[in-house]
Amino acid sequence: MGYSIAIDGPAGAGKSTIARRIARELSFIYVDTGAMYRAMGLYFLRKHIEAGDRQAVLREAQAVDIRIAYRDQEQAVLLSGEDVTGQLRTEEVGNMASAISVYPEIREKLVALQQELARQADVVMDGRDIGTCVLPEATLKIYLTAGSAQRAKRRYLELQAKGQEADIREIEADIIERDARDMNREASPLRKAADAVVIDSSDMGIEEVTAEVIRLYKERRG
Ligand code: DC
Repeated sequence: MGYSIAIDGPAGAGKSTIARRIARELSFIYVDTGAMYRAMGLYFLRKHIEAGDRQAVLREAQAVDIRIAYRDQEQAVLLSGEDVTGQLRTEEVGNMASAISVYPEIREKLVALQQELARQADVVMDGRDIGTCVLPEATLKIYLTAGSAQRAKRRYLELQAKGQEADIREIEADIIERDARDMNREASPLRKAADAVVIDSSDMGIEEVTAEVIRLYKERRG
């Protein structure tokens, strides 16, 4: 195992933006674990399988082939060899990812892939269970959070920038529902690890949060 920074927190707290910047600054690999659950979700959406159809989900999950590649330091997710990276960041896929991430069988498969990546390089990894489950020995653990209104606003602006239609109230309702499911599921729910540092980014800029995480990391390394 190399050095690792684990960043967990609710949807839209800014984890991926911060993690990507930290990775660039420290020359670490950024591992976006949400993208793996999203690729899984996309697979089930394409197959028209309902998240609640436990039998079908578990039967199909065995066969799903998800692999990770790196291009210019950016993570690409390959679903049965097809690069689906550009199709993952929609609300529909995010909600499906959350819904199928409750199955321990799916988590096991993706956690193994995540741990394998952390064995090969120094990583910044973000998700929901990184500090608690995937990298319990991480060099630094961060729990990044922000109020739901603030997170909804960020998602809204992000979608708008991409030219996608969005309703901010709908996004906030989605975020609250997703958080509740991610925090209350039985299999490795979103929880702050006992040794994680909490950062509330409600009133902080991206630069400020990034600098704070890097400061904490350097302090850890001594
Ligand atoms: O971070 P994200 O929005 O891309 O994640 C999508 C969903 O995937 C999230 O709502 C719950 C699930 N997920 C998870 O259960 N564990 C992770 N480590 C990452 C994501």
